[in-house]
Amino acid sequence: MFSRDTLHLWILAGALALVGVGFFTVRGLTIPPSFGQFGHYRGAALQTATDKERKLTTRGDCAACHETLKHEMGKSHAAVHCIECHGEGKDHMTACKTAKAAAKPGDKVTCDKTNLMPTDIKSICLHCHQQMVGRATKHPQINFPDHMKDNDPKDPKSPMVCMQCHVPHDPSEEPSDDKDDEAKPAEAATPTAAPAAATPAAGGAE
Ligand code: HEC
Ligand code: HEC
Ligand code: HEC
Ligand code: HEC
Repeated sequence: MFSRDTLHLWILAGALALVGVGFFTVRGLTIPPSFGQFGHYRGAALQTATDKERKLTTRGDCAACHETLKHEMGKSHAAVHCIECHGEGKDHMTACKTAKAAAKPGDKVTCDKTNLMPTDIKSICLHCHQQMVGRATKHPQINFPDHMKDNDPKDPKSPMVCMQCHVPHDPSEEPSDDKDDEAKPAEAATPTAAPAAATPAAGGAE
């Protein structure tokens, strides 16, 4: 019924159709059902990602129990995350949540607080405040050796040296503020008056 030439074309068309059907069959079998639900990816991947255990804690996590601190930190370190200085605090949070749930109202809650307190505050602070060429000039930064020379701390070698003069939660605060008076009487006096006097040096960077 077909001429020889037309038959060849029909055979070719049939072969192509088979390839097409094969392609779509394999594709249909291998593509995950939610693919393309929202875009060119597996829609269910969003759920998979959400279901993963969260590794990092947020300021909000910590502030849930350390309410006052949240407010105390509302000044120059407002954007600095608790984990920068205290570490992730995951175990602490879990332990405290359990302890809090078990405690009677009014009871003092005690819970695991291992490794929460920074032991080398100097490197933590310098990580953000060491003077660097590429750093935005308006970000407060110091040249550590010069800063020690200028301010003459009692114990410049101590890994906690910055705390002699600065309040880590709110470094804009003057250390000699009321309640801190008894805690750190001697160190408190140093930077209180100095910031104003030394502004020209700091201002040069702006
Ligand atoms: C820039 C570093 C830094 C950041 C950021 C920081 N802390 Fe601290 N924090 C310290 C240091 C250092 C101490 C120890 C203070 C001392 O010994 O006077 C401390 C002490 C504490 C204490 C125990 C003493 C107190 O003041 O009650 C708690 C609780 C605390 N921090 C919670 C937090 C929470 C919650 C956040 C986040 C909202 C946070 N910290 C952010 C450095 C930091
Ligand atoms: C469920 C409540 C809860 C959460 C959430 C929580 N804490 Fe605490 N935290 C406490 C309690 C209660 C204490 C006092 C524990 C004690 O004295 O045994 C404490 C003590 C601390 C201390 C003082 C440790 C010391 O050695 O004196 C620091 C620092 C601290 N928390 C930081 C954090 C950080 C950072 C986060 C967020 C990652 C956080 N906390 C989240 C309840 C909580
Ligand atoms: C994660 C980064 C980070 C860490 C860690 C950090 N800071 Fe800061 N600090 C900042 C930023 C950002 C500002 C500037 C905020 C602004 O411009 O208002 C700041 C501001 C300051 C200022 C200027 C305060 C003012 O208002 O004039 C001092 C002083 C300071 N920090 C000291 C410290 C000390 C001491 C430590 C260690 C205990 C420390 N910082 C740790 C990010 C950091
Ligand atoms: C003996 C006291 C003393 C010690 C210790 C000390 N500082 Fe300061 N710091 C000051 C005083 C005073 C000022 C304000 C005048 C100035 O800029 O020198 C200041 C200012 C700063 C500023 C703001 C600079 C700016 O340009 O606004 C930063 C950031 C800072 N210090 C970080 C640190 C860090 C980080 C450490 C620890 C490595 C530290 N300081 C140790 C006394 C001290």
